[in-house]
Amino acid sequence: MEVLCQGEFKHDPKNIILIGFMGCGKSAIGKELSRILNYPLIDIDHEIEKTENKTIPEIFSEVGEAGFRQKETNLLDQLIAQNPSKSIISTGGGIVIAPENQKKLTNLGFTVWLSATPETIMQRIQGSSRPLLQTKDPLGTIKELLTQRESFYKNTAKVQIETDDLLIPEIASGVLETARYHFCR
Ligand code: S3P
Repeated sequence: MEVLCQGEFKHDPKNIILIGFMGCGKSAIGKELSRILNYPLIDIDHEIEKTENKTIPEIFSEVGEAGFRQKETNLLDQLIAQNPSKSIISTGGGIVIAPENQKKLTNLGFTVWLSATPETIMQRIQGSSRPLLQTKDPLGTIKELLTQRESFYKNTAKVQIETDDLLIPEIASGVLETARYHFCR
C-alpha cells in the first residue's frame, strides 16, 4: 500500500511525521505505518540513543533536559540535511518545545499529532523510565506538561488524531487516509 494518488505528488518531501505527548503511540504507529507502506522508520529518540550510545534516562541524568533538547535539535537538523523522502519519522514528545523545531517538522512533510487524555497517557506509561515523569505525582505532571505543550502540537500538526479508544491498526488507517488526502490534494 502506498500513500499515492494518480500521477506525481504535488507536495514534497513525502514523509509522515508523528508528533505528540509521551504514551500517545508514536513509536507503535510509526512501526505499523512503516510495515504497511514499506517506508523506513526514523525514530528520533532511537537515533539519539544510537549516536550517544546511551539511553534517554542516562542522557537526562548526564546533561539534563536542556542538554537533551540540544541533542534532539541537532539530530533533527542532521536528519533534514539528509533530505529524507518517503519516510516515517517518529519524534520525542518534547521536540515541539523549540519554536524552530515546529517549523522544521512542518517543512519535513505531513505532520500528524497523536493525542490522548492525561488518564489514558498515565495508564499507558505506567512503570516506564521516562525521566520527566519520575515525579511524586506523574498524573499531575502529565496534565501540566500537556497544558504547556498543547499549542505547540497544534501549531505543528496538519491533523490531530485522538487515540484514546482506538487500536493501533485503526490509528494507522486514520493516518494513512489523512496522508493520502494531504498528498493528493
Ligand atoms: C520526552 C519524550 C520522550 C523522550 C524524552 C522526553 C518529552 O519521548 O524524548 O523522555 O519531553 O516529552 P516519547 O514521547 O517517545 O516518550
